[in-house]
Amino acid sequence: MSVLPLLIDEAIKARSKAYAPYSRFSVGAALSCEGGVYSGCNVENAAYPLGSCAEAGAISAMIMAGMRKIDAVVVVGGDMPCTPCGGCRQKLREFSQPNMKVYMVNPQGEVLLVRTLEELLPDSFGPDHLV
Ligand code: THU
Repeated sequence: MSVLPLLIDEAIKARSKAYAPYSRFSVGAALSCEGGVYSGCNVENAAYPLGSCAEAGAISAMIMAGMRKIDAVVVVGGDMPCTPCGGCRQKLREFSQPNMKVYMVNPQGEVLLVRTLEELLPDSFGPDHLV
């Protein structure tokens, strides 16, 4: 996928902006969407449950740009694959096809793991259930 190197760069850049004073675990995410790239980082809070994940920030940036369809996602955490949390899997699902690829990448830019959304969130509930 030709946009992958750009997505990796943007996710690494986003990770450098993370606000994670409590977990000290910085995460960056970047997603491609109809030619555009949108990124986000985790933003924690002294009231711990109010923190938000990097994926959520990237989705907000995408929505603010008027986009609705995620083509691929890169998540950069630490040296183990940073797989999206359950809540973020569902958030990604809202705007993705089942075969959308999620790339887990280390801070050096190496791809550690690749999964489709369907693999991460099988038999999921989505907008099509509500029509
Ligand atoms: N985190 C993310 O931003 N994305 C993930 O995919 C997994 C976890 C954040 C949430 C929290 O700020 C920190 O990582 C530790 O859980």
